Amino acid sequence: MRKAVFPAAGLGTRFLPATKAQPKEMLPLVDKPIIQYGVEEATASGVPNIILVTGRGKNAIEDHFDVAVELETFLEARGKLDQLAEIRKISDMVNFAYVRQGEPLGLGHAVLVTRDLVGDEPFAVILADDVIDANPPATRQLIDVFDRLNGPVLAVERVPRETISSYGVIAPDLAAEPLGDGVYRVRDLVEKPPVEEAPSDLAIIGRYVLTPDIFPALAATKRDRTGEIQLTNGLRELLKTRPIYACEVKGVRHDTGNKLGFLKAVVYFALKRPDLAGPFTDYLTALGLPAPIAR
Ligand code: G1P
Repeated sequence: MRKAVFPAAGLGTRFLPATKAQPKEMLPLVDKPIIQYGVEEATASGVPNIILVTGRGKNAIEDHFDVAVELETFLEARGKLDQLAEIRKISDMVNFAYVRQGEPLGLGHAVLVTRDLVGDEPFAVILADDVIDANPPATRQLIDVFDRLNGPVLAVERVPRETISSYGVIAPDLAAEPLGDGVYRVRDLVEKPPVEEAPSDLAIIGRYVLTPDIFPALAATKRDRTGEIQLTNGLRELLKTRPIYACEVKGVRHDTGNKLGFLKAVVYFALKRPDLAGPFTDYLTALGLPAPIAR
């Protein structure tokens, strides 16, 4: 797999005022922007080309993955070689191409505008909001299923019923032949159903491996009630013509697109850092003591 699409044109209104003048994808989890976790996942999954779907006010993302000559010269002159290596690693990471979405017409539309850049080959889609700590990386897990079954693969996760209406939801085909642990053939899928209409508790999380026939399917997909073209509805269109699969990803996912999920992710990744784990644990433990905290 050579290419991964990163939709990143959203306005990030849930994080205002932090996102008034900077893209939500650049908010840091400890000291690394959210989007860099996704880009590192693509690289670690063997995908070297990133197609970023951007919009107005997203320049900071382009700068982040570009060479920063001034900063490099400064760090070199000061002998800060560790930081220099860290900064260089980012611009050396992958090849970037950028395309603008123009109008905010939904995730399906964001994928559709990459049609010419993707061309006639399978590709991954990574929604950077969903940060997944996994080994092998989540995208790699999907590519492995794709290589075996030769059809589009969606990452899914079982979620509590009360949250199901925030997701695309699949109906697994339970009559289909077994495809392996946590791998399903998709019988149907629906975008953000009311809880009583959800066909299962298997929610689509932000990773997909798609085939180029998704593009005509998206072009044929009608806008929904909100005027958006949903990727889930495009996949439903595609399902009329070919099998689609889903794979329960093994790993820890954080939905950094909402404030609570973002905070959990910051704590999670801070506790994984050798330089912070000790003192931060001490701090959290102190907070957890019954007496000193005013409630
Ligand atoms: C999008 C998709 C949805 C999917 C979700 C995963 O929704 O439309 O099907 O379940 O990502 O994060 P969004 O979260 O952008 O509203």
